[in-house]
Amino acid sequence: MEVIICRDAAEMGQIAARHIVSVLRASARPVLGVATGSTPLSTYAALAELQAAGRADLSGISAFALDEYVGLPADDERSYAATIRHTVTEQLGLDPDHVHVPDGTATDLVAGCQAYEDAIAAAGGVDVQILGIGANGHIGFNEPTSSLSSRTRIKTLAPRTRADNQRFFAADETVPTHCLTQGLGTIMDARHLVLLASGTAKAEALAAAVEGPVSAMCPASVLQFHRHALVLADEDAASALKLSDYYRHVRDNQPQGMRIDTL
Ligand code: PGA
Repeated sequence: MEVIICRDAAEMGQIAARHIVSVLRASARPVLGVATGSTPLSTYAALAELQAAGRADLSGISAFALDEYVGLPADDERSYAATIRHTVTEQLGLDPDHVHVPDGTATDLVAGCQAYEDAIAAAGGVDVQILGIGANGHIGFNEPTSSLSSRTRIKTLAPRTRADNQRFFAADETVPTHCLTQGLGTIMDARHLVLLASGTAKAEALAAAVEGPVSAMCPASVLQFHRHALVLADEDAASALKLSDYYRHVRDNQPQGMRIDTL
């Protein structure tokens, strides 16, 4: 696992975007795994800037989202389908037919989850997956005690997650109780992972994920088994890391040819 402590959201987005573009460039059938939430927004903005500057062309890629609420149709602005449409598809000029989000309104949700797994496989698998981290250590909507080898499935959201996401809903509305989410095994099949963490609310979860034992109690800790996991954290999110001096030392001493933050 490589950990980079970033000055601010803008630097985090730039490093993530350059890394993502270099991975996608090397792929014959580029597939990006996308995430909702506030943290990846600077990455999408940086990807859009690279495109505007003529340094990247994402128009031909496919994308798969991590998760969706059960019961919210794609035209509901609170659905993750709508969020991905605005923050990713429209901003990056992707072909909407090539951007996939689990269908939380499917009549047969179990069959829909399997179809989603099949669609990822048919696209050749995910080249690089963007991940946020929940304050409880979740990635996607894999809440604590999720199987470390789980696949796309229906989950019951943790009360903490519903409280954290209430900000996207009106005061008199409740966050759905269930979701569809790629499993931890599905996420681990992506060839590269980029986990983004911002703010003190994530500090304990990030420390547990990076430096704690691998445990279903902190689902993000499964990344310790991944061969190409990049973790980008701002100073606040990194504040509980024990080895932050070491991560800075590693960043300052990378051989030039190996730097991941140069395009
Ligand atoms: P956030 O969400 O980026 O909005 O903090 C991350 C998550 O809960 O996975």
